[in-house]
Amino acid sequence: MNETRAVHHAARIIKRGGIVAFPTETVYGLGADAFAPLAVARIFEVKKRPHFDPLIVHVAGPDDLGRLVTDIPGPAQKLINRFWPGPLTLVLPKTDEVPDIVTAGLPTVAVRMPRHAMAQRLIELSGSPIAAPSANPFGYVSPTTAEHVRQQLDDQVDLILDGGPCPVGVESTILSFSEERPRLLRPGGVPLEEIESVIGKVEITPVEKQTPDAPGPWAPGPTAPGMLPRHYAPRTPIVLVAKDEIDSYTNKKAGLLAFREPAKRPAFVHTEILSRKGDFREAAANLFAAIRRLDALGLEVIVAEAVPETGLGRAIMDRLRRASCEDDKLNYDQSGS
Ligand code: TXA
Ligand code: MG
Repeated sequence: MNETRAVHHAARIIKRGGIVAFPTETVYGLGADAFAPLAVARIFEVKKRPHFDPLIVHVAGPDDLGRLVTDIPGPAQKLINRFWPGPLTLVLPKTDEVPDIVTAGLPTVAVRMPRHAMAQRLIELSGSPIAAPSANPFGYVSPTTAEHVRQQLDDQVDLILDGGPCPVGVESTILSFSEERPRLLRPGGVPLEEIESVIGKVEITPVEKQTPDAPGPWAPGPTAPGMLPRHYAPRTPIVLVAKDEIDSYTNKKAGLLAFREPAKRPAFVHTEILSRKGDFREAAANLFAAIRRLDALGLEVIVAEAVPETGLGRAIMDRLRRASCEDDKLNYDQSGS
């Protein structure tokens, strides 16, 4: 089936209340008509995602927001003008029409307009905004190719649209406007520095503060439940280490996830280099596929090299921290909550 026919087919499935995996510029999503609660419920089932974790609603353009949100504060509008279509999700007050299952009962809804042409076409042809989380089982790294989706969810979804590897490779930046000042809920594809250059200082909730006991004032659970500290975790344990500590792990059955080409290659079972020249964009685009390849090798441990926390480095470090999180204090989502 060629791409155009595949997208039309996918849109018909969405219209009939089905679920479709589709590419975006960040990661693959698993989508349903945002106004079809039963279809959305199936997404939660397939992902084994807890119902307290709300979904992002993907729109074809800012005009779609009328049905979804009751207010767009000035700074949010500025960010829409500057970064849409693109990897920026805004959390805004929702209309009554948005089903509770989409927002996990919150009074807000997360919205974003993807930049990927296939995603845009799918939303347009479906004639409705599409609610979609990343197309991975809950708690696992997000898929950045159609093959990743096939490996984990193939027989459980109605169709997987293949749009090639995702160019950004990490999920969207999430910014909430449910308090007086905008708050960063998840670092992602649009660097914080770029956001602050448009709207000024943004509040940041440090990961260790994001517990069920200290949520934002608007939510009964964690501020952004996908921000559960231990998230994105592969099966193989990951340790996150500074560049100069890497050598001390080579005696184990270990794999290396290096940011850039090391001066001399340490003796690991396998080494993945995210970007030979140390470019954040390239590193982010390669991150999840590299973690999946290492995870498939049956290693004792994956040694991940810490990257500088500026620009996209912030999103990369956030995902590495979550993937490597062993701290019990941070592991509240593993204890049945
Ligand atoms: O790049 C992305 O954002 C990808 C692609 C598919 O668009 N989607 C994605 O969705 O990463 P997901 O479901 O894996 O992560 C969405 C995050 C979750 O952490 C969720 O808790 C948060 O968005 N979220 C959704 N609605 C929210 C709301 N009303 N308030 C706070 N957080 C919200
Ligand atoms: Mg996800």
